[in-house]
Amino acid sequence: MEHLRGKKIILGVSGSIAAYKSALIVRGLVKAGAEVRVLMTRAATDFISPLTLSTLSKHAVVSSVHDEASWNNHVELGLWADAMLVAPATATTLSKMAHGLCDSALVAVYLSARCPVFFAPAMDVDMWLHPATVANVKRLQSFGNHLIDVAEGELASGLVGAGRLAEPEDILLQLNTFFAQGAGAQDAGTKPVAIPHDLSGKHLLITAGPTLEDLDPVRFLGNRSTGRMGIALAEAAAARGATVDLLLGPTHLSTQREGINLISVRSAREMHDRAVELWPRAQAGILAAAVADYRPATVSEQKIKKGEGPLRINLVRNPDIAATLGASKQPHQTLVGFALETENEVDNARTKLRKKNFDFIVLNSPNEAGAAFGHATNRIQVVDHNKVTPYELKSKDLVAHDILQELVLRLSPTT
Ligand code: C5P
Repeated sequence: MEHLRGKKIILGVSGSIAAYKSALIVRGLVKAGAEVRVLMTRAATDFISPLTLSTLSKHAVVSSVHDEASWNNHVELGLWADAMLVAPATATTLSKMAHGLCDSALVAVYLSARCPVFFAPAMDVDMWLHPATVANVKRLQSFGNHLIDVAEGELASGLVGAGRLAEPEDILLQLNTFFAQGAGAQDAGTKPVAIPHDLSGKHLLITAGPTLEDLDPVRFLGNRSTGRMGIALAEAAAARGATVDLLLGPTHLSTQREGINLISVRSAREMHDRAVELWPRAQAGILAAAVADYRPATVSEQKIKKGEGPLRINLVRNPDIAATLGASKQPHQTLVGFALETENEVDNARTKLRKKNFDFIVLNSPNEAGAAFGHATNRIQVVDHNKVTPYELKSKDLVAHDILQELVLRLSPTT
């Protein structure tokens, strides 16, 4: 976390059960050498005492609109900071930030801040998926604010799903990687990270998410992929100027960015057929989908009834999208695959590289804390025929840029 040293951070805490985690965030920031000022909404003080956060941050906490001295300082505070982090950001606070509804010191500072703003939402799964919240998050992102995505798992309500506050270490890590890029070092931090326009005029095909294989009208076989890495790749590629065909399996995540042609698919066969159709117009393909290797041999027209004994399901192989595209790859096309290996990682990745005719493979480490499925962060190694390039643990947004950088190096100059 060395890039947090000396950084001035405003932490805005709003009223969620996850507010107790803000203590860990403050402690982590201070431990890393950052200077922290905490703002709390009134609701937040019902969940965690301002005394806890003022003791940990070694500065008085601003928790009321009527805290006169601090209220008057909201502009100064907004100018002082290198970054503002709102964590946890409740549905209410997100909505107020998105619409400039300034009824708290937190929103007043947010509106005055010239520094980069990060927000880490926390709420119940249905609130998180509600179109109002989705629209608010998009609106904040359109202002250039950085989403620190929610994690999935058990929620305080007892429901299971997306909506948990990202783990404090993941939040710190994302801030640290942001500053590591030199993004926060600029004057008042107002400039976004410089994104090269090196994919202008290029057409990319990206597969992402799981595939679901139907058993009967209500049941299917699936996997836990969220499609986050593939969506991050599509967004990063579009930001670098590419036009992207994104073939996305069923997931709660989505994207609406300009430059991305989002095509929703369900089964491996559907993804395969669309990929085959779109591949000829692409200069590069990145296959990040977790495609089911097998599907039920038959799909029952009626719901399968339970019987006394065990139920046997016959599975047949699905087409290998990567192998199909690899076999028809033209000299001007570059193909990138993903692999998750549990042993002999590099050897197995190289075998796959040859078999599927990839130009390089992005190797995920399944044993790594914070990497691969469902996490906001990932640690990758890039494996090609000649070398292995390891990368640090980073947010998937930054990993996406590393992968695209590797791709740009290998794009055919004639494309
Ligand atoms: O063979 P394995 O599933 O480990 O290969 C992983 C790579 O191949 C990934 O890039 C994945 O998207 C791709 N793949 C595919 N179609 C399949 C299976 C895997 O495109 N049916």
